[in-house]
Formats: sequence, structure tokens, C-alpha cells
Amino acid sequence: MSSLQGKTLLVTGASSGIGRALCELLVARNANVLGVTRNPSALSEDVSPIVADLTKREEISSIFHGLGKIDGLVNCAGVAYLSRIIDGNPTDWEEMWRVNVMALSQCCQLSLKHFPANGGRIVNVCSMSGHRVPPSGGFYAPTKFAVRAVTDALRSELKSIDSPIQVGSVSPGFVDTPMLEQYFRGREESLTKTKAAMKMLDPFDVAWTILCILEAPPHVEIGDILVRGSGQHM
Ligand SMILES: NC(=O)c1ccc[n+]([C@@H]2O[C@H](COP(=O)([O-])OP(=O)(O)OC[C@H]3O[C@@H](n4cnc5c(N)ncnc54)[C@H](OP(=O)(O)O)[C@@H]3O)[C@@H](O)[C@H]2O)c1
Repeated sequence: MSSLQGKTLLVTGASSGIGRALCELLVARNANVLGVTRNPSALSEDVSPIVADLTKREEISSIFHGLGKIDGLVNCAGVAYLSRIIDGNPTDWEEMWRVNVMALSQCCQLSLKHFPANGGRIVNVCSMSGHRVPPSGGFYAPTKFAVRAVTDALRSELKSIDSPIQVGSVSPGFVDTPMLEQYFRGREESLTKTKAAMKMLDPFDVAWTILCILEAPPHVEIGDILVRGSGQHM
């Protein structure tokens, strides 16, 4: 029996890719799953929708109004544009910063008072781009370096107040989700080449690594899991 049975988990980015795959695995373990999205019709079966646009601070706050106890928060929502520092559009940078960093941080903060006294777990979806800067990846990597720093800062802060809430992250390489079309927007030939060059991770591969963190015994705190498809070189 999974330790997640009967537990309540809040998942952002629940409508697509990694977040949607995770929701399916959680439902299969009889967890109560609350999924944050702008598109509730895209959620998988038995996921309770919470509609919010994560670029808007008030809508992020509204996720937590009237929310009861949760045992876990998984921040999967993210935006990726290949938008360079030398010539990218700052509007793209701003959207990435808001969703990838600000919304994730605000969700972490607002979730804290919803955890039971014996704690729970927060998992932030980072990226291999939070560990090294891809040569032409533009502003996406800076947002993921920030996710890594926010995760480490939150973990230290929680320990400094003796909170039993654990914080971890997963850092995937390329995953075959709709995000890749967004990232390679206007550079479709690069996407075709990248897909031909390696077997990418499936969203369920990454969802499984998130489950490893969520289902670990209580005395085991996993800080980060770096996971690439075996054909990915960096
Ligand atoms: N795919 C990869 O290669 C890869 C690699 C490393 C890390 N990651 C990270 O993994 C996470 C999940 O990515 P994915 O590949 O699963 O992407 P995806 O399939 O494109 O899904 C992105 C999710 O983010 C949500 N989202 C985006 N903007 C939002 C907004 N303004 N308000 C609310 N929700 C918003 C979307 O929800 P709605 O549009 O329904 O609202 C969607 O559920 C991201 O943090 C990404 O950076 C992905």
C-alpha cells in the first residue's frame, strides 16, 4: 500500500506533461489530488480542479483561500521560451520569471500553514538547466537556477524554525511534453534534430522520480534528483 493513500496533494501544472502524469499516478495510489490549471477540462479523471493563472498574484492567493490541510505540494507548472539575453523579448522573460520563480515561491509560502503538525513534503520541478547553462538557452536557465536557490533557501529556513516540512526538487533533462514546442517555437528543425538525436524522457519517468521523493520514509529527505534520458549528453 502506498504511503500516499488518503493523503491530499496540491499539484500545479496538473493539466499537461509531467504534472498530468503525476496526477494520474497519485490518483492510482488513492490520493486526493487537487490540480491547479487555467484549463480544468484538460485535467485527468478524479483530479479536483483549482483554476488559477499563475502569472497573477491574487489568483495564486485564491488557490489557498478556504483550502484545508494538504500533505504535499508539487510545483510542476512552468514556461519555457528559447529567449536569449542578447536579443530575446523581455515579455517572455517576465512570463517565465512569474510562473517559474514567483508563482512557485508564493505557492511554497502560502502552502506552509496548510500542512499538518507532523509536516509533509514540497517538491519543486527544476531542470538540468538549473544546474548548467545551455549555450543558447537564454533566460530559461536563470529561472531554473533561481528555482534551485529558492528550494535550498526554503529548506534552510524551515530547518531554522524546526519545521518538519521537507523540501526537494527534481531536475529533468529533455522530456517529451508540449513544453518542447513552446521552447523551440520558430525553430522546429532544431526540435526535430533534438528528438532524432536521443530517446527523451517520458513525462511518467519524471512523475516517478517525484513519487520517489513523496513516498520516501519520513526520515529520508531527498534534496534533488537529476534525471536525463540515457542519450542526453549534458
Ligand atoms: N519538458 C521538458 O523537457 C522539461 C525539462 C526540464 C524541466 N521541465 C520542467 O517541468 C515542469 C513541467 O513542464 P512540462 O514539460 O510538463 O510542461 P507542459 O506540458 O507544457 O505543462 C506546463 C504546465 O504549466 C502550466 N502553466 C503554464 N503557465 C501557467 C499559468 N500562467 N498559470 C497556470 N498554469 C500555468 C500549464 O497549465 P495550463 O496551461 O493548463 O494552465 C501546464 O499544466 C516545468 O517546470 C518545466 O520547466 C520540463
